[in-house]
Amino acid sequence: MRPFAKLALAGVLAFGATGAHAADKLTFYCSAQEDWCQLMTKEFSAATGIKVNMTRKSSGETFAQIKAESSNPKGDVWWGGTGDPHLQAAEEGLTMAYSSSMRSELQDWALRQAASANDKTIGIYSGALGYGYNEDLLKKNGLPVPACWKDLLKPEYKGHVQMANPNSSGTAYTTLATMVQLFGEDEGFEFMKGLHKNINQYTKSGSAPIKAAAKGENTIGIVFMHDAVKQAVSGFPIKVVAPCEGTGYEIGSMSIIDGARNPESAKKFYDWALSADAQSLALQVKAYQVPSNKGSETSSAAPDLSSIKLIDYDFKKYGSSAERKRLLKKWDDEVYAQ
Ligand code: G6P
Repeated sequence: MRPFAKLALAGVLAFGATGAHAADKLTFYCSAQEDWCQLMTKEFSAATGIKVNMTRKSSGETFAQIKAESSNPKGDVWWGGTGDPHLQAAEEGLTMAYSSSMRSELQDWALRQAASANDKTIGIYSGALGYGYNEDLLKKNGLPVPACWKDLLKPEYKGHVQMANPNSSGTAYTTLATMVQLFGEDEGFEFMKGLHKNINQYTKSGSAPIKAAAKGENTIGIVFMHDAVKQAVSGFPIKVVAPCEGTGYEIGSMSIIDGARNPESAKKFYDWALSADAQSLALQVKAYQVPSNKGSETSSAAPDLSSIKLIDYDFKKYGSSAERKRLLKKWDDEVYAQ
C-alpha cells in the first residue's frame, strides 16, 4: 500500500467512518500556484475529513503576514513558495520544529533544507529560474530571440520584460539573489538596474508575468522554468529559456507556524504533503517542479534540472534574515526608486 493510502486509512480508523472529529480544522497558508493550492486543500480534506481554510499569497507576502500575526497566530501550516522566506521565518522563531516520519522517503536536498533550519522547515519541491517568451509577440515586434540573462538588457526589449516585485514574490527574490551570486554583488545590481529600464510592470505574484505572456499581454516573463512550461503545454505560444550564463533555483518549502491553533492537523497535513501520492497530485495541475519524495510521479514535460547550468545557490546566506532584508532594501533604494 502507498504511504498516502496507509495514512488515509489510518485517518479513517482514527476518526471512525464519519470522518474527522467535528472540531478538526486547518488554516492553510499556500504560496504555490492557486490551482495546486486548491487541489491540495480538496484532497487533504477528502483523505482526512479535516476542514481546511486556505489562503493563497506569494512567499514574501505570506512571510510578512505570519510575522504580523506572530503575537496571535492565525495560520497552522505554510506550504509552498520559495525556501528563502521559510528559512527567514525559521530563524526569526515564527515556525516550529517538526520531524516527520516521511523523512526517509525524501531527496537529500529536501533534508538539507530542514537541517539548515533545525527542522523548522523542509523541502517539498525544487525548480530552476529562467524566463519564457511569447514567440508570436516576439516575431510581431521584430525582436531577437533571447538566450542569456544579459540579452534582456538590450534596449529593443524596452517595455517587453516583466517580473514580480522581490518584496512580495519569492520568485523575484530568487532572481535578485541569483544575479548577486552569478555576477557578484556590484555587477548583479548593475544588471537589475539595466533590467529595470526594460520592465513594463513589477507584479505581486511570481508567475503572473508568464501568465500575461501566455495571454499576449506581455512578451518576456522572468519566472521559474516550470511555470513557463505549464503555459507551453497548455497550448500557449510560450518558449522556455534556461539562460546561457547559468541560473539559480528554489527549494520550495513547508513549515508549521509556531503557536498554531491546530498543531495536530498541521502535522497530519505535513506528513501527507510529503507522501508520494500527495506530491504526484502536482501533475494534475501541470505543476512541473521536481518533487522531494523520491517515489513521486514525474512528467517528461518537466524541465530536466540535470541538463541546466545551476549555480551553487547559498540558501543559508540568502535565506537569512539579515541578508534578505539587506538585499530587498538595496533593491528598493537603488533599483525600484530609479
Ligand atoms: C510559482 C512556482 C513555485 C514558486 C512560487 C513562488 O507558484 O510554481 O514553484 O515557489 O511561484 O511564488 P511567488 O509568488 O512568491 O513568487
